[in-house]
Amino acid sequence: MTSWWKEIVFYEIYIPSYFDSNNDGIGDLKGIGQKLDYLKELGVEGIWLTPFYSSPKVDNGYDIADYYQVDADYGDMADFEQLIEAAHDRGIKVIVDMVLNHTSNQHEWFRESKKSRDNKKRDWYIWEPSTNNDGPPNNWESFFGGSAWEYDSMTGEYYYNAFAKEQVDLNWSNENVKEAVFDVLRFWLDKGVDGFRLDVINFLTLNRKFTDNPTNNVGEQDHLYDKDQEGIFDVINEVVAITKEYGDKFVLGEVGSDEFNLLEKYMNETDLDAVFNFNIGSMETLNDKKLFREIKKMDSKLSEINLPTLFFGSHDMPRHYSRFSNLGNEEKIARLTSTFLLTAKGIPFLYFGEEIGMQDFIAKNIEEIKDVQGSTAYHIAKESGYNDKEALKRANKQNRDKSRTPMQWKNEKYFGFSKNEPWINCGDTSNDSIADLQIRDDRSLWHHYQYLIQLRKNELTLQVGNYQMLNSENSIISYERKFEQSSFMIILNFADDDAEYNTRDLVEKEIEHVYSSQRFEMEEGSVLNSFRLLPYEAIVIKMNKGAH
Ligand code: NOJ
Repeated sequence: MTSWWKEIVFYEIYIPSYFDSNNDGIGDLKGIGQKLDYLKELGVEGIWLTPFYSSPKVDNGYDIADYYQVDADYGDMADFEQLIEAAHDRGIKVIVDMVLNHTSNQHEWFRESKKSRDNKKRDWYIWEPSTNNDGPPNNWESFFGGSAWEYDSMTGEYYYNAFAKEQVDLNWSNENVKEAVFDVLRFWLDKGVDGFRLDVINFLTLNRKFTDNPTNNVGEQDHLYDKDQEGIFDVINEVVAITKEYGDKFVLGEVGSDEFNLLEKYMNETDLDAVFNFNIGSMETLNDKKLFREIKKMDSKLSEINLPTLFFGSHDMPRHYSRFSNLGNEEKIARLTSTFLLTAKGIPFLYFGEEIGMQDFIAKNIEEIKDVQGSTAYHIAKESGYNDKEALKRANKQNRDKSRTPMQWKNEKYFGFSKNEPWINCGDTSNDSIADLQIRDDRSLWHHYQYLIQLRKNELTLQVGNYQMLNSENSIISYERKFEQSSFMIILNFADDDAEYNTRDLVEKEIEHVYSSQRFEMEEGSVLNSFRLLPYEAIVIKMNKGAH
């Protein structure tokens, strides 16, 4: 029997932006509960909830102040319990984000740690004296920009923060920290969660000689000593082991890298069930050659038990509808890329709103930027002497609000997300990426997603089948997935032009069904011998049982 997470399609819900049930402008847990039927109809069987724990929300919940409380903006513990139950009733699994690398500076552990150098919890975080010349302990930079060290004048030492200064890194070489964090995992497992998405899990260990990071040839810091350090696999395996005490739970690691060689190590050498494959996920442009290279690598290098994750969007990256944009062809491209996500070998992760083609939001002034990474970029640019316009441009590059605007439910004010002004700008209100409208239109992008999700759900071959053939020729990527007697052919045209595909060994009797991402009535006979694909068209062919 394969594990349940290898068979389903996941959907990431960025909680503050999904649905606001109490009209305070912020999405909440009850709101998600009210949309479970929507998710079921779409066909997703797993949701990933971004952090909902008590937090000052400097980084929207990735700064946890109390691991045991639900943040009041999102509801309360009863809401959480009801959500889990209601999701399970509908056959939807729930995995939750777990931020183990750092806590908020408001967390009680840090408040203690900060009190004095000999406080019992001093060593729960990473404190270091300044160097001889009075500066921070080394040159390590925060991933949001600026130094990763913050000076505390009360105790005269620096503490380490890989992200914002309000997100303080825990000291994972302290056994008491580990024990405290493991208790947190047990608490949520007892609540019935189906697994964890482990935030920046490759950051837990550090080079404790605090060697300076080198600078690369484009003048940026190469984070050589502040992640992926010795002992990291062991720590991760401890986290996984605790989780697996609770049975068939899914443990998914966010390993912050788009280098397959590194991701592969975590996939093959830890007990994590999967990692986020940014080697594909964070592709900046639609590049079939790169995509093919990465799929090929993953197919040949990963052991049988390791499936890659398949995604193009998340709360940290621009929406791929905009990212892969080619004027006027956005929807065709969205249909093409989603056909890949939902038919390739791996575990698909959709990001909320992609099923209706939501687009990037670009801030028009600094006040519109809510994201800490975006606003930090703005302030750093200003401090470096750039004018407002240039600072805003730089900030927009980094701004993750792009993909965090509220879910577009209805064609009404605030898209039916809330009756009151949302916490974040609603973005471009003139588009037709609206769930309500698309559900009523059989030919919409939403229905395309629904069709493929359901297809994957009903066809074991699309869940577990291996690549019988995997090819890239001109602008076309094609693959055949096979399991026992059943097989599927997928043909994806990445060009802006028509492309000829030679079906070679396909013969009429083998074809059971043909689906096109663009042609709504496919003549099945037209697939014979060779055929032309439309620009950005994707074709999914189901072969008859017994073929080959
Ligand atoms: C990765 C999360 O996805 C991102 O949103 C967050 O800012 C960082 N980790 C820090 O927790």
